[in-house]
Amino acid sequence: MSLKNLVLLSGAGMSAESGISTFRDVNGLWENYTIEEVATPEAWHKNMDLVLRFYNQRRKQLFEAIPNKGHEALVEFEKHFNVHIVTQNVDDLHERAGSKNVLHLHGELRKARSTRNESLVYELKTWELNKGDLCELGSQLRPHIVWFGEAVPAIPQAVNILNKADILLVVGTSLMVYPAAGLVDYAPPGIPVYYIDPKAHEMAYQKRFKCISGKAGEVLPKLLPELLSEINHP
Ligand code: APR
Repeated sequence: MSLKNLVLLSGAGMSAESGISTFRDVNGLWENYTIEEVATPEAWHKNMDLVLRFYNQRRKQLFEAIPNKGHEALVEFEKHFNVHIVTQNVDDLHERAGSKNVLHLHGELRKARSTRNESLVYELKTWELNKGDLCELGSQLRPHIVWFGEAVPAIPQAVNILNKADILLVVGTSLMVYPAAGLVDYAPPGIPVYYIDPKAHEMAYQKRFKCISGKAGEVLPKLLPELLSEINHP
């Protein structure tokens, strides 16, 4: 019997319990920095040092973080479902927990890429990326991050994954950033869609989704029986 497809769309809240700040909560990253200062191509040209420092801090924090119970639960789900994770997160906590299929929409913090040829992508061995770190063509390396105002090249692949979903879980995202937020509309009509977030019931989506207000690390480890009964008794 082939397994049903479970798709997870995750955002910053997925990693909050690993100690990584979200963007838009109180004390979120965008309370301390503006997007224009650190997360746009203009910022890179205007103040490369600040942008590098901002992502170095994020990377250092990531090297010290470990996957949480929510990440671990998703690995367990793979015994029962064909799991595909589409994440807005740039951390590698899904992979480090052991999830097999992870698509990063907004890039990967532990990678750098050439400013001359974007297909030249390198794994970083330390948390630091500095001015003067060059690609093999001799150009400055930049964080392998999709900044505001840049294209999101993984969207067509994500749409393909969403199209084939039998169950969709949306976890820890404010669904405020497009095109990522629009991906939920590519799930086949009528499939069960769960929205798991401490603020789930405050969201405009609550009529369309099965909302569970709670933390990813608390809700996901208990969710498997319900997901299995959805599939067996839709
Ligand atoms: N478990 C689940 N959800 C949580 C938890 C938790 N423990 N803690 C906080 N959250 C929820 C918040 O309630 C909020 O709805 O996570 C969500 C985080 O939302 P944002 O900070 O807006 O993060 P995200 O949706 O991932 O942002 C999207 O914006 O700036 C960018 O590129 C960045 O990928 C990011 C994109």
